[in-house]
Amino acid sequence: MQTDFLVIGSGIAGLTYALKVAQHFPDKKVTIITKATADETNTKYAQGGIAVVNDLEKDSFDKHIEDTLIAGDGLCNKEVVEIVVKEGPARVQEIIDWGAQFDKDAEGDFKLGREGGHSEFRILHHKDVTGREMERALLDAVEKASNIEFIKHCFVIDIITQHHLGYLVTKSTPDINCYGVYVLNAKNNRIEKILSKITLLATGGNGQVYRTTTNPSIATGDGVAMVYRAKGRIENMEFIQFHPTALYEAGKRGQAFLITEAVRGDGGILRNINGEAFMERYDERKDLAPRDIVARAIDSEMKITGTENVFLDCRHMDMEKFKEHFPNIYEKCLSIGIDVAVNMIPVAPAAHYSCGGIKTDEWGHSSIRHLYACGECSSTGLHGANRLASNSLLEAMVFAHRCYVDSVSSYEQVENLPDIPDWNASGTSEPKEMILITQSLKELQQVMSDYVGIVRNNVRLQRAIRRIDLLFEETEGLYQTTTVSPQLLELRNMITVGYLITKAASFRKESRGLHFNTDYPYKSDLVQNIVL
Ligand code: FAD
Ligand code: SIN
Repeated sequence: MQTDFLVIGSGIAGLTYALKVAQHFPDKKVTIITKATADETNTKYAQGGIAVVNDLEKDSFDKHIEDTLIAGDGLCNKEVVEIVVKEGPARVQEIIDWGAQFDKDAEGDFKLGREGGHSEFRILHHKDVTGREMERALLDAVEKASNIEFIKHCFVIDIITQHHLGYLVTKSTPDINCYGVYVLNAKNNRIEKILSKITLLATGGNGQVYRTTTNPSIATGDGVAMVYRAKGRIENMEFIQFHPTALYEAGKRGQAFLITEAVRGDGGILRNINGEAFMERYDERKDLAPRDIVARAIDSEMKITGTENVFLDCRHMDMEKFKEHFPNIYEKCLSIGIDVAVNMIPVAPAAHYSCGGIKTDEWGHSSIRHLYACGECSSTGLHGANRLASNSLLEAMVFAHRCYVDSVSSYEQVENLPDIPDWNASGTSEPKEMILITQSLKELQQVMSDYVGIVRNNVRLQRAIRRIDLLFEETEGLYQTTTVSPQLLELRNMITVGYLITKAASFRKESRGLHFNTDYPYKSDLVQNIVL
């Protein structure tokens, strides 16, 4: 099959780009592929909202820029930060025009939230289900676009490059071209090729590499792994953001329910198992310090007290307001026997956001020609060593727009596609034991959580590399000899991503932002991005 614009991923980044190119080129075909249902994305689970300067009398671009730079701890690209902050309001207006609704007060002004690291109230939200509302509005708009084809349950395996034409492609090959992708289509269980002059990767995050994460099961880092295999550039993978307050449920692994930082913005207080409000011992901004500081403080309290969680105390808050702003959280807690007015909420940090990813320039170009990347799978330079809360939905929209603008100007110049061979599945047979895949995945998640978590050291990182090498070897064996399945493909991608996180972490001989290594507890004078 051939299309004009191929979009991989149906979260905020992919849908925004698809809508824009489809509107600009009504006679061209835009194809969106997702490996799951249309809305099963990280986007759908976003709670707190979207950070954007609304009112230039009370807030300013300079303040938002400054907050982003401070959180990023010396590694943000200032030019990119300025782009995202200044272009943000226009992009937010577009999604409002597409039908997304954000909470307003009686006067019709936006109700603004505040989260860690923000010097002002500037977060637009839709109760505590902002992402669900944005995803809904985007999917409704896509539904109406007659030139968008939406293929669900279709797993992208690999990007097609000259490698698939039989040429040797290495990291130093100057012009690696993307011609489209190979996919595993769940409808017929066949591997097909989808060719396109322009491809956009918007495959989201990789939280599933860890034992507990706020991310849904789709977040397996597929785009990053594909680009790495295709010899493209990957940047700053060591900066994994752990959200300080995921709901703690004893023994649960996988996706954990998020308790949005906006709860602390509205006055929620973290307490340790002894009831002590400990954040004042770690940072003068207390519960609203940037996430890396709060997550490390919680990690330290849990280690000191020998517990698996701390608590978020909301008992002193106005419960009517709480229920109005956080109805989903209130209901979720109640469903597991926690009445927020009476009980403190047990919370623990969980893997939440990947600040690094596919390296792009300020127009979303990856290092592979005709391949754009945007959203959480990309590394644009906005977040540096630590993302400021609620900046990612904004980044995704700003960069989706920039990828679209660049696609419009470059589409006509893209060369015609060469003949691409079909997928070669010779020498493979049905797997004998799928359980091996599940077991390897559990091992990987355990290794990453134990050795490459919030606080790292050299011995732990070396242990992790040795274990990941073994998992890699075994899984490549399976991949070469068995018929592929989504489970095997995701495992293979997660092992690659785990390797990239650990390798980048071991190359960074300092502590900065989200990366804390007790063998190098200070920031180095050498300010560098780690590119693999
Ligand atoms: P996603 O929305 O994750 O979409 C990825 C898409 O790629 C999916 O459709 C998936 O199926 C598809 N895909 C992946 N791999 C393949 C493959 N191999 N083949 C085919 N399809 C594939 N950010 C904020 O700014 N504010 C917030 O309040 C906020 N709250 C959050 C709360 C939670 C619980 C979580 C998890 C994240 C939150 N974030 C928040 C982060 C933000 O939601 C994400 O960074 C953002 O939504 C990512 O959007 P995306 O379009 O890049 O990817
Ligand atoms: C939250 O609502 O706490 C998450 C916000 C974010 O990840 O940006």
